[in-house]
Amino acid sequence: MSKLWGGRFEGATDRLVEEFTASIGVDARLWEVDVRCSIAHARMLGGTGILPEAEARALVAGLEALGEELRSRFERGEAVFRPEAEDVHSEIERLLTERIGAVAGKLHTGRSRNDQVATDTRLYLRERSDALAQELHGLESWLVGAAEQHLQTVLPGLTHTQHAQPVSLAHHLLAYFWMFERDRERLADCRRRLDVLPLGSAALAGTSFPLDREQVARELGFGRVSENSLDAVSDRDFVVEFLGAASLIMMHLSRLAEELILWSTPEFGFIELSDAVTTGSSIMPQKKNPDVAELIRGRTGRVNGALVAALTMLKALPLAYNRDLQEDKAALFDGLDTAHSCVRLMTRMLRDARFRTERMARACESDYSNATDLADFLVEKGVPFRQCHEIAGRMVRDCLERGIGLEAMPLERMREFSPHFDETVHERIRPRVVMAARASQGGTAPAAVAEQLRRAHLLV
Ligand code: ARG
Repeated sequence: MSKLWGGRFEGATDRLVEEFTASIGVDARLWEVDVRCSIAHARMLGGTGILPEAEARALVAGLEALGEELRSRFERGEAVFRPEAEDVHSEIERLLTERIGAVAGKLHTGRSRNDQVATDTRLYLRERSDALAQELHGLESWLVGAAEQHLQTVLPGLTHTQHAQPVSLAHHLLAYFWMFERDRERLADCRRRLDVLPLGSAALAGTSFPLDREQVARELGFGRVSENSLDAVSDRDFVVEFLGAASLIMMHLSRLAEELILWSTPEFGFIELSDAVTTGSSIMPQKKNPDVAELIRGRTGRVNGALVAALTMLKALPLAYNRDLQEDKAALFDGLDTAHSCVRLMTRMLRDARFRTERMARACESDYSNATDLADFLVEKGVPFRQCHEIAGRMVRDCLERGIGLEAMPLERMREFSPHFDETVHERIRPRVVMAARASQGGTAPAAVAEQLRRAHLLV
């Protein structure tokens, strides 16, 4: 078939140029939303009398049948679109023409590919973003469920990757819950600005046909129609916003992945990942590698790259549509696919991981992570905190020299550092008691975490 825009041209397009400008390899996946968008447009053309009812009906019926055909052909894995095609919009119009003849040429009345592609992309992203939010919800539910089991499980809380103070595994897992909850909020927020229909803006300036844009918006489930045709066809803020949200999701996943990698080393030994999500080595028979976690960590860069690509594509772009904008989809789809599969695989990996809680508990022994509480003990006796810090520091040094933990220092020895120590001190500095003492709102004590869990439950 000749090109959608062939009339003005005398000479043929260079083959290299055709290949260079084509987007079918990337935008083929928009076929389903493209057909839906065209059906809504055709119905409106009939409803407003811009086209005779019979022609509009022929268009709608043809598009519906084409949609069915495409679905089953794609399901069978057939190559439906010609590799040399320009884009998904021209291919669908070509296939519709094959099916219903010349009347297919009326579909593009009052429409341009510029508003069409902006509409398709919004529709597609809306659905995929909802699916991603659903996947995040699954991860969050797992985190809440696991936290419920581990209110009393202690592990060393770290700062600077050094033992700091004991925390509960529940508290640690819920920290990730809140990150992913913010991510889900961000997706919901992006969705509000995604909810705008560009169709009806035509190429850039609107159209002379009396379109009913509200009808199209209703049919496609958009809450609003765009206010300015120039803005509508050039706006890809929603791509940037989504990729920003996806980059944060990936950043959060990468932090969790990194911890799982560390935790599965023999040095930590806090977690054992299942055979189903780990891989072996072609040379070292003993290996069980956390490749899934590593790939999640590694793919974070891809989504960050997609965000930068989208921002850079838009920078200094004059109004209105420019072909640069075609580059939005490669970035968007890669970001979408990557974030989606990474959230899914993270959930899968966590679901059958085994926490080695005895290793976590042992790591809290003799690790001086109760030194703050030793100081706090003296504070409670009325000694100024600065002085307490100094005393506890000297006690740590003394124990280090002897190769023992603070809890192994006898009371008589402690009293040499401060007469305020009494027989209750050893109980007070046990890891579990230390953890339970941090009962401030949002703290790691089981009572505080139970309250945190209650709030988390309201959200999943
Ligand atoms: N394939 C184009 C894109 O993805 C849509 C077509 C608009 N092309 C044009 N020459 N105005 O942006």
